[in-house]
Amino acid sequence: MKPVVLVTRKLPDAVEDRLRRDYQPRLNPDDRLYASDELVARAAGAAAILPCHTERLSAEVIARLPDSIRIIANFSVGFDHVDLAAAKARGIVVTNTPEVLSDATAELTILLMLGAARRASEGERLVRTRQWRDWSPSFMVGTQVTGKRLGIVGLGRVGRVTARRARGFDMEIHYHDLQRLPPEQEAGAIFHPTVEDLLPDCDFLAFHCVATPQTRKMLNAERIALLPDGAIVVNASRGTVIDDEALIAALKSGKVAAAGLDVYNNEPDIHPEYRELPNTFLMPHIGSATQETRDAMGFRALDNLDAFFAGREPGDRVA
Ligand code: DGY
Repeated sequence: MKPVVLVTRKLPDAVEDRLRRDYQPRLNPDDRLYASDELVARAAGAAAILPCHTERLSAEVIARLPDSIRIIANFSVGFDHVDLAAAKARGIVVTNTPEVLSDATAELTILLMLGAARRASEGERLVRTRQWRDWSPSFMVGTQVTGKRLGIVGLGRVGRVTARRARGFDMEIHYHDLQRLPPEQEAGAIFHPTVEDLLPDCDFLAFHCVATPQTRKMLNAERIALLPDGAIVVNASRGTVIDDEALIAALKSGKVAAAGLDVYNNEPDIHPEYRELPNTFLMPHIGSATQETRDAMGFRALDNLDAFFAGREPGDRVA
């Protein structure tokens, strides 16, 4: 008998076709967001759940899952929405989808940098609302990206692709990570042993780190003070790494010239002041949202399920 897989969101057609071929999927054609009670109810009799980061699998939810659930194969690289310790305690295997979304997320990070630096939100609004009346040397002057210093917190897979793309703008790459990377991965990037050491060298600051209790509110008022005046902050990792009140205060004072954000605390009910500020360039958590990457994420999640049900170790096991 093919294992029953609860799929929490609408997935690409090619991924759902493969699910139908190899499993008994419980699909969500209307792409409704299941509340935890409904998710638990729908999991009855299923052997696997294929969730996205939109489903919070807290310890409490995991405790209520039926005994039939043996694996949670995430359709996401991030797994901060799953309580790994709780899954482990119940003997539930957890996997993610690394690597396949690095290009798409790095592309979006470059978009955030350019959009924030060149005031793309303001400019687009002017054109769309017919308020663009004139041209002058002082009109819509932004910050040049070319040749600037880019500081990356977390030079993992996505961070390294962002660094590669940024080198196309002749940027000098600085980074902080838990440990120094081997030279072939650094590719000339300058290592800083602490975030505090990195920040003064960041004309642009990009986050590509994992959301953990240690990285929560990593960018706070004290650290913002260490940035050069007029630095630009971008984030395509997780909103939790930023202290919103501190960043908003810095955007208002001009200490931070602009921010490009794709991820937020409490999505989609983000801090309302981000919407009001002229110097924010805001995207709705779409770092990995390309057709190619969505397919690849789905296939990667299925590769993990296939390995698990064939009795092999899934390639992307995180718990
Ligand atoms: C990820 O894969 O973690 C992205 O944020 C989309 O969920």
